[in-house]
Amino acid sequence: LKKYAVIGNPIAHSKSPQIHQAFAEETHLNIEYTRVLSPLDGFDATVQALQENGFKGANVTVPFKLEAFRIAQHLTERAHDAGAVNTLIFNQDGIVGDNTDGVGLVRDIEQNLHISLAGKRVLLIGAGGAAEGVLHPILEQKPQLLIITNRTLDKALSMIKKVVEQGEHRYVSVNAHAFDDLGEQAFDVIVNATSAGLSDSHLPLPESIFAQGALAYEMMYGRETPFMQFARAHGAEVADGLGMLVEQAAEAFYLWHQVRPNTAPVIASFRV
Ligand code: ATR
Repeated sequence: LKKYAVIGNPIAHSKSPQIHQAFAEETHLNIEYTRVLSPLDGFDATVQALQENGFKGANVTVPFKLEAFRIAQHLTERAHDAGAVNTLIFNQDGIVGDNTDGVGLVRDIEQNLHISLAGKRVLLIGAGGAAEGVLHPILEQKPQLLIITNRTLDKALSMIKKVVEQGEHRYVSVNAHAFDDLGEQAFDVIVNATSAGLSDSHLPLPESIFAQGALAYEMMYGRETPFMQFARAHGAEVADGLGMLVEQAAEAFYLWHQVRPNTAPVIASFRV
């Protein structure tokens, strides 16, 4: 029986065990996947204990994605780009760190919601860890335009600066603007990567951001946030982060088991 875990603090609410068990059933694999509550100052020791107990890998959630990035002995390119790790693989070489969040978001938008990002005008709201994690995978789809907006403009500017320095904006026009400096610009896809929804905070965005038929994607799930209400009120198609959660899990599942689970029935089962 191969053993896996999700490490976080808090962790009791995590849906990852149910998602991975559903994938395992569907692909006829026998796995054990448990929730592990790590002390805030004990992430290293928690990971070490899992390795010693024969675990083959772990997912990492709030607030340990940066620490996971630091302890990984090998990083995949996308983990390096994200500056954070949400998936650990324990093998003979030690600890490999990957990040499946960005690909999870892109797959949910493209494959589940049937919206291609190529050539689109994309607004990314937020400049924290969650936004960093999805920036490069979005750029890889070659949108026409990618604007980052954030309450603290400096953080958005430095994300853009890094992208430009790395030359990764090729073919994509990129920029950062304050909330009140978005003007009348309309976007086809608007991704909320802030944590404002956690506190039911309204984001002071102009309503002109929603182009006709726009998709408003809230990366959080499990509640109707003020951003989702605002987007609905202005005619956007609205999605929450449940699909992204299941898709990032599917990619981790693939890394560990080399099998791609079918995600649609799992997403549907959590919707009800
Ligand atoms: P995460 O890992 O969830 O991204 P984070 O790194 O702390 O967490 O980043 C939180 C993001 O949500 C930031 O973009 C933050 O804006 P600031 O950079 O200005 O702090 C944004 N955020 C959180 N609460 C917010 C609120 N009430 N209004 C606007 N933005 C908010």
